[in-house]
Amino acid sequence: MNPAIRHQFLLDDRWHFLNHGSFGACPKPVFEQYQFWQRELETQPVHFMIRRLPGLLQDVRMRLAAFIHADPDHLILATNATSALNMVIRSLPWQQGDEILSSDQEYGALRRTWEYIVQEKAVTFRPLRLPTDCRDEREFADCIWPEITPRTRAIFLSHITSPTAVRFPCETLIQRAREENIWTIIDGAHAPGQLDLDLSTLGADAYAGNCHKWLCAPKGSAFLYVHPSLQDGMTPLVISHGWGEDATFVRSNEWYGTQDFAAYLAIPTALDFFRNCLGEAVHQDCIRRAEAARLHLAERGFTPIIPEDKALEISLFASVLSSSTAMADEVYETLWKEHQVEVPIIPWQNQNLVRVSIQTYNTDEDWWALAHALERMFH
Ligand SMILES: Cc1ncc(COP(=O)(O)O)c(C=O)c1O
Repeated sequence: MNPAIRHQFLLDDRWHFLNHGSFGACPKPVFEQYQFWQRELETQPVHFMIRRLPGLLQDVRMRLAAFIHADPDHLILATNATSALNMVIRSLPWQQGDEILSSDQEYGALRRTWEYIVQEKAVTFRPLRLPTDCRDEREFADCIWPEITPRTRAIFLSHITSPTAVRFPCETLIQRAREENIWTIIDGAHAPGQLDLDLSTLGADAYAGNCHKWLCAPKGSAFLYVHPSLQDGMTPLVISHGWGEDATFVRSNEWYGTQDFAAYLAIPTALDFFRNCLGEAVHQDCIRRAEAARLHLAERGFTPIIPEDKALEISLFASVLSSSTAMADEVYETLWKEHQVEVPIIPWQNQNLVRVSIQTYNTDEDWWALAHALERMFH
């Protein structure tokens, strides 16, 4: 860890912050640019919103599109992955009896979204028990493929899972699904900044990613890609000025009424910060340190979800704390209050998991503090 980089973040030094994964953390240069845009708007609110904003948003879309290898016209800015995926899930033309295959490792809010669709549209949402340590594209596709039935209309998966911090190798699966006219909807909330994203190769029908997690952009900055074949069927969550017969995908879906667009406008600065201060070497260093933390916890009896003999691919991991989901909130509160460790405790499949995020500002003392606290609490 480069000590200077820690001071680039606004984080409270009294806490061991091991939860970049939930809401990210925004470094000062990016946060200042975010505030710059808020002030800039207030100097001439109407001029800014009417004359300047459309061009500024187009520039942001272009920068982001280049970063994730997507066509900017097929990409909209969104406030978060949940709302972006809500639009897709609620818009698709489901027929009664359609089946959506998914995993047992999906994010809670989006499981709720599917529950809602199941009730509204009489479809079936089938979460499959998927491996947590599969690295092979074909093997992964082969796990899911036998489950496909004539009713399977869509596959919904996280690119990086929330409870288990696993990367699903889903590219081959997506290609096979396309050949069978099965929609693929990918929740990439954690992916930007963790994975080298190339949406043109990945080929998903819909892909949402957050900029406010691992790209360190301000909260409320995300994107949604939708394949051209599905764009016409998308209904925005809010019908506003852009909606209408000759509206483009971007016009229909990006304007939900007056809002603070500063977080979107700070995305290019976040991309600059990412390139200059984070980037591949720092990312690899974070992964190495996450591996050290995973090993350290394993030696203390906390079994990692991805076994130690498999190298980590991302700088977050989950380990099993207990073989019951009891007391998750108490463990979380004790870690925070008594040990000054901010880390999520996630009940999953009758176990409590601890999910550890390592970002460039973390020192080894952060995960040592976690290990020490867990040892005192569990042994
Ligand atoms: C896999 C996954 N999907 C979606 C989300 C939701 O992100 P947001 O609250 O920004 O919509 C999260 C948040 O942690 C997540 O881990």
